[in-house]
Amino acid sequence: MSLPSSADGRLGVALLGSTGSIGRQAVDVLERHADRFRVVALATRSNAAELEAQARRLRPIAVALADEGRPLDLPSGTSRVGGSDTLEALAVRDDVDLVIVGTGGIVSLRPVLAALRAGRVVATANKETLVAGGHLVMAEARALAAEVAARDPRDPQASPLAWLRPIDSEHSAIWQCLAGEPVAAIARLVLTASGGPFIDATPSELERVTPERALRHPNWVMGAKITVDSATLANKGLEVIEARWLYDVAFEAIDVVVHPQSVVHSAVLFTDGSLKAQLGTPDMRLPIQYALTHPERLASPVTPPDLIATARLDFRAPDEDRFPALRIARAAGRTGSRASAALIAADEVAVARFLAGSIGFTDIPRLLESAVARFGEGPDQAPDLDTLFALDQEVRAAYVDGTV
Ligand SMILES: NC(=O)c1ccc[n+]([C@@H]2O[C@H](COP(=O)([O-])OP(=O)(O)OC[C@H]3O[C@@H](n4cnc5c(N)ncnc54)[C@H](OP(=O)(O)O)[C@@H]3O)[C@@H](O)[C@H]2O)c1
Repeated sequence: MSLPSSADGRLGVALLGSTGSIGRQAVDVLERHADRFRVVALATRSNAAELEAQARRLRPIAVALADEGRPLDLPSGTSRVGGSDTLEALAVRDDVDLVIVGTGGIVSLRPVLAALRAGRVVATANKETLVAGGHLVMAEARALAAEVAARDPRDPQASPLAWLRPIDSEHSAIWQCLAGEPVAAIARLVLTASGGPFIDATPSELERVTPERALRHPNWVMGAKITVDSATLANKGLEVIEARWLYDVAFEAIDVVVHPQSVVHSAVLFTDGSLKAQLGTPDMRLPIQYALTHPERLASPVTPPDLIATARLDFRAPDEDRFPALRIARAAGRTGSRASAALIAADEVAVARFLAGSIGFTDIPRLLESAVARFGEGPDQAPDLDTLFALDQEVRAAYVDGTV
């Protein structure tokens, strides 16, 4: 089945979070392949100047700025839309075939579900949507894939991953490793982690980490939240939960390996003992483009990895004593979606408070552990949307100020 496309043969795209780190790189990819993609809608929170510049370059039909009080100077042919369900409305527009999610947090959970229910392809960098709502999102992607498979099992859209396409580099790597492989042959997933800027820091050095130092990632340039998450390894914990949902693999079969060069983006161990990895220069435009053009590969501006210049690829086990956020996240994932949702709400608060100077770096995992114990337990570990959003608010309110 080929994806539906607009009259001129291009796929219509809605880009949520267009002014962020992922959003800007997605714009770069979309501009390079303007013969294939037509940007129909852009949405962001408050960066009016960048949204205006993007609108002038891409000429979308609709743009949304969540900060609705702020004026926008838009080119002719581009209209501003608004309202409480704007992201959902943009995601299911008739002229949108593919939704790219570059927002943080769970703000895009409703739009992702709406898009899938309306039969749109979703390419997501956002991990929180899967960490909190994996049970809801993957059910929709699997239903779409099953519908296609009933008609033609060899159709590229007969896979849930063709509908819910991962952009996160580790999950893109696993997806690429799985191309042409039977899912039943997966023995283990191996997620690589750079280890962040404090890979060799002592416990007392970690106590003194400043926001400025935590924001200096050795290999990747990303938004502030994910950069701090990489330094605490909370990011890797979220990615373990994300992988569990995307690939339907038990937590026990997902390994994390610290690999400081960030050249091996992740790997899959198959039942015959073969370990298949995807390598690349750390540049998010590659996984973004793969998610947009799958199953095709097109030329990209990304510098190919040079193994001789790289010379060394190091691997070591993560230290969960110095970086307990990884252990806490794994445990939350095992408990279920309620615990995972409590974890991500707490992590947003913890990172914001660390960046604002009200808690220290090592307080972040303490806050996460406290929030998961306090709000994540309970029998309902597959909550519905309203419960998830209520829980998100409850956790934020409990930790937004005061003690950890
Ligand atoms: N950056 C990376 O390299 C990378 C890699 C892998 C995965 N990810 C994941 O991708 C997601 C985004 O990360 P990022 O680093 O790109 O974050 P970011 O730089 O903070 O960008 C977030 C974007 O979302 C927008 N946004 C926030 N709330 C919104 C709302 N209510 N409505 C519409 N737009 C909203 C922001 O708008 P404003 O700019 O106006 O605030 C911004 O454009 C995260 O889940 C992250 O974990 C990122």
